[in-house]
Amino acid sequence: MATNPASSADPTATTASTTAANGTAAANGTTAASSAAAPASATATPASTPAATADTASTATTSRPSLTEIIDQQEAVFIRRQPQSARLAREATSSLSGGVVSSWQISRPQPVWLSHGSGSKLYDVDGNEYVDLHGGYGVSLAGHGHPAIVRAVRSQVERGTHFAQPTQAALAASAELSRRFGLPQWRFANSGTEATMDAVHLMRAITGRDLIIKVEGCYHGHHDSVQVSVCPDGDADERGPADRPYSAPASSGIPRAITDLTLIVPFNDLEAVRRRLDDHPGEIAGMILEPIMMNAGIIKPQPGYLAGLKELLHSRGALLTFDEVKTGLTAGPGGAAGVTGVTPDIVTLAKAIGGGLAVAAVGGTHEVMDHVANGDYEMVGTFNGNPLAMAACTAMLTEVATADAYERLEKLRLRAVEGLEREIARNNLRAQVVSIGAKGCVVFSDRPVRNFRDFLDVRDSYSHAHWLFQHNGGVFLPPWGKIEQWLMSVQHDEADIDRFVDNFATFAAAVRQ
Ligand SMILES: Cc1ncc(COP(=O)(O)O)c(C=O)c1O
Repeated sequence: MATNPASSADPTATTASTTAANGTAAANGTTAASSAAAPASATATPASTPAATADTASTATTSRPSLTEIIDQQEAVFIRRQPQSARLAREATSSLSGGVVSSWQISRPQPVWLSHGSGSKLYDVDGNEYVDLHGGYGVSLAGHGHPAIVRAVRSQVERGTHFAQPTQAALAASAELSRRFGLPQWRFANSGTEATMDAVHLMRAITGRDLIIKVEGCYHGHHDSVQVSVCPDGDADERGPADRPYSAPASSGIPRAITDLTLIVPFNDLEAVRRRLDDHPGEIAGMILEPIMMNAGIIKPQPGYLAGLKELLHSRGALLTFDEVKTGLTAGPGGAAGVTGVTPDIVTLAKAIGGGLAVAAVGGTHEVMDHVANGDYEMVGTFNGNPLAMAACTAMLTEVATADAYERLEKLRLRAVEGLEREIARNNLRAQVVSIGAKGCVVFSDRPVRNFRDFLDVRDSYSHAHWLFQHNGGVFLPPWGKIEQWLMSVQHDEADIDRFVDNFATFAAAVRQ
């Protein structure tokens, strides 16, 4: 990354700040705002109902409204501002199942129906303007209507959008991905799910082994092999012991026989991986993980963890896949691989690389991708590398996600982090800011989060209240409480960040401790 201190091999060097408000350095490089506060109440809520249970501990001894009351008030404001969204949400149920096009668009108190986006802003059907920090779940690094993307797409639309034959734009895109991610060979697909599915197939095809290792709390899309222990935040019996988690189904409709082929380990725990490999000698094809976890807030790898994984897996004839669907381009120009200096056997990309269009990519070493080139594994798809997607992807890589853009994003990241940490300290909140590149989040916990079990203790009711204050104040964060992060785009500016920090200040004062 051009200016991000994140380019060092030590991933903890990428954190916004390493000094806690009380003057102590937080162990994982995040910033503990108040270690003196009472213990966090552990009211983790099911993923499908963010903040269904409000935490009242913070205000129990004062006459100020409780967190539950604050959430109720903010939800009432939210609903008042959005009568057209409410109407559409009602009408939509007649023809759209559940009234939305993807189940993750069902959010509390109601889905927000949008009309358009422009630059760093989104507009809902009621005419409200928002600074877009939702980023379409990690896609909108380019912002909306970026001139380079518009130019590329417009010119390609006029020349045909689909041939199912190779076109030259795929060459430019794959060459640029090779340069950024240090992997020589690429194929394209359409979604993150397709990319990680191909990666898992490839690891099995190459090794002739069926088992894979997956990290508890990582999400890799909705295909069978990885829909295991994605967010097992309900039944502790189903989760199993922390050092040897069970393979918990993350969806209905997936046969147990397939779930059992996916072995689960905690993040940041090399020994747990070693145990799995010892238990199943010669049976494990490889491991897939998000090198920086981004479906549990943001959890960074501890120094040496990723390099240790690569060495350990290779010593047993197994492969390593980094799922960089979220981190690719947003953590830095070469993703988490670039930030940490660890190049895996396979990288999967999607989301931001398409500049707003559906593009995914799978990159690999020669040893891996030779199995694709020689037909051992057939990586296929009618829309793979379609010219429209490739035009947008090439523009994204060569004209949008430039060194200058990363320099600007880094300044905005620092501005956001400084402002948030100031308000956390001022209001004595038990919270930490974790950020990298264009992404970041506030983690409502007084201790560092190193894996999914730690993440279970993060207080989701605070995340939901924060989301509501931001939304009602004209900043759209992703609606999944503690799970998601902000994404800035190359079109955001200081005024956007200041609106975000001002809203946070209002929220922090309301829930201060
Ligand atoms: C890390 C990661 N991998 C894979 C996916 C699946 O991507 P898609 O929704 O494009 O299928 C996601 C989606 O959020 C993701 O976060």
